[in-house]
Amino acid sequence: MIILGIESSCDETAAAVIEAKNGKFSIVANTVLSQINTHKKYGGVVPEVAARKHVKNIIPVIDQTLTKAKLSPKQINRLAVTTGPGLITSLMVGIETAKTLAYVWQKPIVGVNHLKAHLYANMIHNKKIFWPAISLIVSGGHTEIILMKNTTSFKKIGQTLDDAAGEAFDKVAQLLNIGYPGGPIISLLAKEGDPQKFNFPRPMIKSSNFNFSFSGLKTAVLYTVKKIKKVDQKTKADLSASFQQAVVDVLIDKTLRAARQYQAKTIMLSGGVAANNLLRKNLQKKAEELKIDFLTPDVYLCTDNAAMIGIAGYFSKPVPYQKLRVDPNLSV
Ligand code: KG4
Ligand code: ZN
Repeated sequence: MIILGIESSCDETAAAVIEAKNGKFSIVANTVLSQINTHKKYGGVVPEVAARKHVKNIIPVIDQTLTKAKLSPKQINRLAVTTGPGLITSLMVGIETAKTLAYVWQKPIVGVNHLKAHLYANMIHNKKIFWPAISLIVSGGHTEIILMKNTTSFKKIGQTLDDAAGEAFDKVAQLLNIGYPGGPIISLLAKEGDPQKFNFPRPMIKSSNFNFSFSGLKTAVLYTVKKIKKVDQKTKADLSASFQQAVVDVLIDKTLRAARQYQAKTIMLSGGVAANNLLRKNLQKKAEELKIDFLTPDVYLCTDNAAMIGIAGYFSKPVPYQKLRVDPNLSV
């Protein structure tokens, strides 16, 4: 089955063609047009601006993707589009475009949950997955631990009570005045820093549930910065490394605890923050020590993309295009 995936939930206009054959997936073409350069001067995504950019770019991005795939619309078997969660007007651009194409091309269409799609990006490895699995989804808007018994059973067992992990990276980068989005910049700067220089709190690490809280950690960084007379580049690197270590410690501790409690045979890591090298390496190492399989997509499939939407689209049932609705608060 050839699936055209379309993604526009935040600040990436993306399209991809994926092929599903005997339950195995391959990416035929993948296009991600990022709006980061537009939004970075505001220190975050401006929804109205994002939606306008999606309107301008979505057809060229889809067209380019089909050209790269050397496919005509006739050869597409299914359309898959993100219906939520995300920014309402941005989501609407993707959905209305996909619905129009489904109508004109006379193709089946499925709506995709963006969070589940992050998780489904792990299927690109085409590895046998041993169940149950514990899946950590860490993005700019969400931090969730999901228990899965098979490819379509999801139970949320933990989530952030305030800021998402990616949001914390973005806000700390903003207060250090080092740019947007914060995750990649902080992780780069952290390489030059000492993770033990500042002893930041590990919020909720001792709580018996699987929930997270990152806003206090962000405030702790803020208070520390205020106390320092001159925040030079070395200090920024130390703050970045110490902050990153605190986030990673909490994420790993809770994920491993969930894996032990539910006797998971696989741990999956996905979402934009899964691009973080320290998190990837450390969680993999710990999972291996516990003899639990570990899966995480390649970095380019961790941040927002449409290949994951195409893969997720394989697991959902087509609906009449008229029934497809945007749901900005959709949960797993
Ligand atoms: O999944 P994603 O692309 O978009 C959402 O669905 O939110 O995630 C974006 C988030 C941003 O907050 C960004 O700072 C974070 O992922 N991120 C990272 C890294 N790369 C991106 N966080 C930590 N380390 C990274 N290397
Ligand atoms: Zn995302």
